[in-house]
Amino acid sequence: MGEGVFGRSDAEIDLLVRGKRSGIAVVGFGYIGTVTGAVLADRGWPVTGIDVRQSVVDEINLGKTTVPEPQLNELVANNVRVGRLRATTNFGVIADNDFVIVTVGTPLGPDFEPIVDDIKAAARAVGEHLHKGHLVILKSTVPPETTEKVFRPILEGTSGLRAGVDFGLAFCPERLAEGQAIRELTSIPIVIGAVDERSARACAILWRHGLGVDSIVVDDPRTAEMVKLADNVWIDLNVALANELAKVCDGLGMDVLQVINAANTMPKGSHDVNILMPSMGVGGYCLTKDPWFVSHLGESLGLDLAIPRTSRTVNDTMPAYTYGLLNKLLAEQGKAIETSRIALLGIAFKNNTGDCRLTPTKYVVGLLEDSGCELSVHDPWVAADDALTVTKIPLTADIESAVERADALVVLAGHRQFQQFPLARLAELVSGGCVFLDGQNSFDPAAVRAAGFVYKGIGR
Ligand SMILES: NC(=O)c1ccc[n+]([C@@H]2O[C@H](COP(=O)([O-])OP(=O)(O)OC[C@H]3O[C@@H](n4cnc5c(N)ncnc54)[C@H](O)[C@@H]3O)[C@@H](O)[C@H]2O)c1
Repeated sequence: MGEGVFGRSDAEIDLLVRGKRSGIAVVGFGYIGTVTGAVLADRGWPVTGIDVRQSVVDEINLGKTTVPEPQLNELVANNVRVGRLRATTNFGVIADNDFVIVTVGTPLGPDFEPIVDDIKAAARAVGEHLHKGHLVILKSTVPPETTEKVFRPILEGTSGLRAGVDFGLAFCPERLAEGQAIRELTSIPIVIGAVDERSARACAILWRHGLGVDSIVVDDPRTAEMVKLADNVWIDLNVALANELAKVCDGLGMDVLQVINAANTMPKGSHDVNILMPSMGVGGYCLTKDPWFVSHLGESLGLDLAIPRTSRTVNDTMPAYTYGLLNKLLAEQGKAIETSRIALLGIAFKNNTGDCRLTPTKYVVGLLEDSGCELSVHDPWVAADDALTVTKIPLTADIESAVERADALVVLAGHRQFQQFPLARLAELVSGGCVFLDGQNSFDPAAVRAAGFVYKGIGR
């Protein structure tokens, strides 16, 4: 049984936390759970991951993870080896840990409605082992009021304890981004929306000493839930704006990056304008889903919100737009896609990661596979199993074989291996008049053209 943190004085919690005498249970050991658990363990905490998937638990206990995040494997291996990190399917271990962080998934249903079944199941399982003094922190992205109206009643009902009286409860949104998750977890301030002031203070002490980050305390859990959704709606909308500007600039024969970089120097309010970058599409678990949470929230309030639906719709047009660009470029070279040899470089949805979850590259791959072209696919970051979720074609192991005799190179993820590969060597391997479609705008157009390619980016 843990010593209990909730209900103690700040000084007592401070001592427990600084001395790392409290254990942390992380419920839901997927992407966010594994990153959070591994980072906390690396900072000296005893961490136990709890997941319903036996395969995940077995993998962690062998010191491995398939979560595609740079440096995570090493962190998991080291901390499992020294005994600070372990995993189990047994929720009974909750009793031994003062802090319980819940990071289970919240997928979308067929009508883009949020599904909180895993949140409910996790609340039931945690509630069965809850004691006085526990601090429970929900980190999954959820529609506003889920902590108070779904999570809390189940915890209280199954435990017979009261939140804010017997145990602490807070919602702290996870705002890190794939690819830089480990750095961001220990640098981005954490928003705390708690059911009472004592829960909020205990949380802030954990984040200050546990991760070395500041906290922003808001009124209540639902406000914190809304913060996360506001962040992601802003990002998705801003990318949609960049994507539409890219289409306009392309039509006018301008370089959208010049437009955006110059536009972003204008001060507005306390910051400069900050238009994000266009690309061949938006992927991943959060941006493709969270705007729909807000859309549904609007519906529940009788509001017809245009913004989240519009940004999702605009960003979802980008894979087909990219495929259209390829067809046009090939036609300009007197070639047809069905008789061309196409080398697709990068299928992860983000540069320098192997993350293929909800990747927009899948739609471009599908269109290419159906086109009858001769297709090779290469991504040095993506594991063979994950690649199968995107393409039927086995990955070509090396870039040289992938691009040989290609009529077009289609870069859908701007991995550093592609940028570091000498353009002159690339030009030697491909066919004459080879098209270079830069789906992430990660190359210098002048350098690519100088190497002899027909270059095109998104909006440039
Ligand atoms: N991936 C991201 O970059 C990111 C960023 C910020 C926030 N989020 C949010 O964090 C949450 C988790 O996302 P993720 O990407 O880690 O999802 P994920 O699917 O990778 O992981 C969820 C894990 O929870 C486990 N699980 C499901 N039900 C469970 C239960 N009842 N008890 C214990 N474990 C259970 C699953 O087996 C899985 O391993 C989501 O709400 C997501 O929106 C994700």
